[in-house]
Amino acid sequence: MKIAVLPGDGIGTEIVAEAVKVLQALDLSFEMETALVGGAAYEAHGHPLPEATLQLAQQADAVLFGAVGDWKYDKLDRPLRPEQAILGLRKHLGLFANFRPAICYPELVGASTLKPEVISGLDILIIRELTGDIYFGQPRGRRTAIDGHFPGADEAFDTMRYSKPEIERIAHVAFQAARKRHKKVTSVDKANVLETFQFWKDVVTEVHAQYPDVELEHMYVDNAAMQLVRAPKKFDVVVTGNMFGDILSDEASMLTGSIGMLPSASLNAKNQGLYEPSHGSAPDIAGQGVANPLATILSAAMMLRFSLNQPEAADRIETAVKAVLAQGLRTPDIHSEGTTRVGTAEMGAAVVKALR
Ligand code: NAD
Ligand code: IPM
Ligand code: MN
Repeated sequence: MKIAVLPGDGIGTEIVAEAVKVLQALDLSFEMETALVGGAAYEAHGHPLPEATLQLAQQADAVLFGAVGDWKYDKLDRPLRPEQAILGLRKHLGLFANFRPAICYPELVGASTLKPEVISGLDILIIRELTGDIYFGQPRGRRTAIDGHFPGADEAFDTMRYSKPEIERIAHVAFQAARKRHKKVTSVDKANVLETFQFWKDVVTEVHAQYPDVELEHMYVDNAAMQLVRAPKKFDVVVTGNMFGDILSDEASMLTGSIGMLPSASLNAKNQGLYEPSHGSAPDIAGQGVANPLATILSAAMMLRFSLNQPEAADRIETAVKAVLAQGLRTPDIHSEGTTRVGTAEMGAAVVKALR
């Protein structure tokens, strides 16, 4: 089993180091190879996704990814910005299906900014389409406007688009995931305004005919954003496009207590996967040793389950995370009165200890 380890920038290196320690404590025979990605790769090689890093990822059974990005790269030409590394990996590996499970562990009910009764027992799954939509649609760029409100003015544009096969395959992923859960899919769109999302809704409805045992509901994204904080437990599987999924999953992270708790898996048609926390490189806390490593450790568990066929090892990690939370250990993002405040490395070490 070969794992490509790509820590990236900011807290990426700190949290991935802890996930690697947890993987090493499992006594399974992994081959792990680390490479630079994002701003770190730009500094060393002049490109955020060097050919060697891409090849390592393509040849591995799975990729463990930290995070990329820093404000100091905001002025670079877009192809050289750190974020292009994760977008390039998703595109080159065909990682179209992004799973972001939002689970509220009982111990963290008090860590969220939401009322306990709203989130206790929460277990929802956001499935975000990851290689299409306005993120990748062409054309995009800047030009002089020839029409609109200000002809002759500078303008910028992106293209939102989805093809039928792209929507069909993510819809199948969502209905199949719902079959293993509570058999309900909420498809989130903006069909009342956007042609792309009327098409999305039509195609999801068509695919649904093959899953009569699964309930399908459609919801506009603005309403979905509101319902997620009003009554999140009414959702089971949420399926949506790339941009809406990006926004709604950060919102859902607060239902779990912290963005530092939300893992993710990005899979292609061959079940090869990239595993990363849903959060970013957190430049505001990088280098302080205080970042929560649990989203990354839980992403490693998803890797064992989805790409490496080691479900027992995945269970062991998840049980160890719950044990550590039950012991009252908390990084600052989930810390509250009556619990013990720990740093990134202490949290990782506690998970390793709980594994044994
Ligand atoms: P962010 O997710 O990095 O941080 C948002 C807030 O959450 C910050 O206050 C941060 O301190 C906190 N936070 C995030 N992860 C945490 C953790 N594990 N423990 C404790 N607190 C945590 O989002 P941002 O600030 O908007 O973006 C920072 C950079 O990260 C940008 O360059 C952005 O493009 C990039 N980014 C990368 C990825 C990725 O690599 N997949 C994802 C999101 C953002
Ligand atoms: C995420 C991030 C990325 C995204 C950025 C860094 C490209 O926000 O993984 O959620 O928008 O997909
Ligand atoms: Mn995001």
